[in-house]
Amino acid sequence: MKENIIRHNYHVTKQQRQQLNNHQSFLIWFTGLSGSGKSTLANALEERLYEKGIKTYALDGDNIRKGINKDLTFAPQDRTENIRRIAEIAHLFIDSGTVVLGAFVSPYKKDRENIASIVGNSNFVEVFVNTSIEECEKRDVKGLYKKARKGEIKDFTGINAPYESPENPDVEVITDHLSIDEAVEKIYQVIKQKL
Ligand code: ADX
Repeated sequence: MKENIIRHNYHVTKQQRQQLNNHQSFLIWFTGLSGSGKSTLANALEERLYEKGIKTYALDGDNIRKGINKDLTFAPQDRTENIRRIAEIAHLFIDSGTVVLGAFVSPYKKDRENIASIVGNSNFVEVFVNTSIEECEKRDVKGLYKKARKGEIKDFTGINAPYESPENPDVEVITDHLSIDEAVEKIYQVIKQKL
């Protein structure tokens, strides 16, 4: 089948769309444990970008898993597929001229490397939301840690499934030490030169 599919090139280009928007497009990827604050930070950063007239869109694990990825579990191969599909979607958004924010646990290093290869290294900004498991479990906003401890959720990241911390993230925010505003400021300082 694949050999019968020939790419069609549209005349309006990514560069033209970016020019129209007056900014570049790329992916800001938040990785970290469940409850680490990824969505909260992505949300606050998106608000900041919106106020500056930047075209954005946020892709969020919990939301995406209710729609396009509702067929996927949390087994390693399904997480890989989850992240691969999101990377492809993010790639399309980047092509549309949009700054994309992605908030996914994305616990496997190889899956995060795959995102960079799909969207292009220079379009990928990795933000490590570094919140200790103790803190996440203490917050337990969704009550999932409690369930996982009781054995009601299998493959729960940090409890009975691994989280591979990024070794060289573009930004690291240690949320135990930073307020939301401080964390957003830190991320903004890194991405602003890419806009
Ligand atoms: S990922 O590992 O495939 O990147 P994703 O970000 O899409 O995960 O979804 C994580 C969210 O699903 C968590 O924030 C949590 O609310 C919920 N969740 C439910 N079960 C699990 C699990 N076994 N491990 C991690 N998160 C889970």
